[in-house]
Amino acid sequence: MERIIVPPRLRVWSDGAWHIYFDPYNFVWAKVNDSGRFLMEEFRRYRTISDVARTVAERFKLEPTKTLALIDGFVNKLVDEGFLHRRAYREREREAFPKLKFAGTLYLHMTNKCNLKCPYCYNKTDRETKIKLERLGMVDPILSTQEYKDLIGRAIECGAHHLIFTGGEALMRPDAMDLIKFARQKSSTIKLEMLTNATKIDDRIAEQMCASLDIVTISLDGHEKHMHELYRGKHTFEPTIRGIKCLIKKRLELRRQKPFVCLVPVLTEKNVINLKEIYQFSLEELGADNLAPVLFQAGDHQQVSVDQIPKMEIFQQEATRLSNYLQQMTIIRPEAQDDSLLARNHCGAGGGEISVDPSGFVYPCQSLHFPEFVAGNVRETDIQEIFDDSPVLNRQRGTTVETLAVCSHCDVRFLCNGGCRATAYNVYGQMDAHNELYCNYLETMAVGKLWGKTQVSSSPN
Ligand SMILES: C[S@@+](CC[C@H](N)C(=O)[O-])C[C@H]1O[C@@H](n2cnc3c(N)ncnc32)[C@H](O)[C@@H]1O
Ligand code: SF4
Ligand code: SF4
Repeated sequence: MERIIVPPRLRVWSDGAWHIYFDPYNFVWAKVNDSGRFLMEEFRRYRTISDVARTVAERFKLEPTKTLALIDGFVNKLVDEGFLHRRAYREREREAFPKLKFAGTLYLHMTNKCNLKCPYCYNKTDRETKIKLERLGMVDPILSTQEYKDLIGRAIECGAHHLIFTGGEALMRPDAMDLIKFARQKSSTIKLEMLTNATKIDDRIAEQMCASLDIVTISLDGHEKHMHELYRGKHTFEPTIRGIKCLIKKRLELRRQKPFVCLVPVLTEKNVINLKEIYQFSLEELGADNLAPVLFQAGDHQQVSVDQIPKMEIFQQEATRLSNYLQQMTIIRPEAQDDSLLARNHCGAGGGEISVDPSGFVYPCQSLHFPEFVAGNVRETDIQEIFDDSPVLNRQRGTTVETLAVCSHCDVRFLCNGGCRATAYNVYGQMDAHNELYCNYLETMAVGKLWGKTQVSSSPN
């Protein structure tokens, strides 16, 4: 009888009673229990189904014919799924990553202004410099309402399927909600999201949000005042909580399903120990739909030093505590996480996503708003042309896990995507630097995707 071949290169992760066998070449994996693991380890010894069935029947005193049939079923399923092979291992032809016609996701920065002064804010220097230059008349003013509408309309025509309205604080722009209403009128299907600190959400804004937005993503760094305010400044906790509650109450009053309310704690070495409590407070007391924690990333400043990145052991301990808590809860996941298991070869900057600043300058991503990354300006050049022809965007798209020296040898590269390129640039000054500080985290998160329980992401939003 033919031998069953287990992939020659394997990574195995265990979590109590379950085990993941991952074949990095073919990007395929199997999640098995202890019995499955026993079989896998037998097949790793180049054995046939009947040999293994005999061993199992003798060892566990089982009826031989039934045992053979069960093992045959197990093998057939994993052969069909492309994990096990008959006779010889077959490396799959890896499909080329498709050339994108346009960015699926656009970060639209509505204003440089913000009513808060979070010391870690990744675009603080960029925004504050532009505000000063605009006051001095040294840069073009921000896009007018009509120019913004033209941008939204054109992005939708070009095929964007997700617009993320952000800033600064988007709600500091008086026409913010009108522009979002306009986007909704232009397309009933496009995903519209706003990132906000929630302090400006009142009854009227909440109603407008319910009318047009799919997701409202709100920053919340602690379940208690002192922790939230440590990073977000004095007197910010109550207004944030009031804003969150107001939106959730309005959605209930209007009997709407949307917007999905997702809270985002930026995790540092200080608040990571409260990760579970932040979830508990957000889900049980505030009634949020889910959370999407993000690790603190070094941005366009070094005011909060990289020492603020949580220690790996503490993070893992807290992630386990959170996971135990979440097992008892029914969590609705934001739609954005659905495709997290597709193989990807880079972080999305300049390809799947691009970022536009309030004056119309286009950058590869929201954390790369530096003069050297300007790809063009929508006032001068059509955004499709910028996407197709900009050398900056093309160079960025060419930086993939296959071209990054360390990542190109890593087993989980197509799950991890090499981490955030903006972070590499911010920390090491080089776009293609290895994200050494975050690599441990990134591997843990990549494997977490296989377990279906990665809660934390490594780049803002
Ligand atoms: C720049 S803010 C703009 C939206 C809004 N003002 C807010 O704070 O939610 C977008 C998101 O990035 C997060 N963020 C800011 N700086 C960060 C950093 N250094 N590392 C990780 N996330 C960061 C914020 O907490 C927020 O969730
Ligand atoms: S993180 Fe948001 S709220 Fe804080 S300073 Fe930056 S833009 Fe403002
Ligand atoms: S950042 Fe680390 S975990 Fe991610 S692909 Fe590169 S080497 Fe692998």
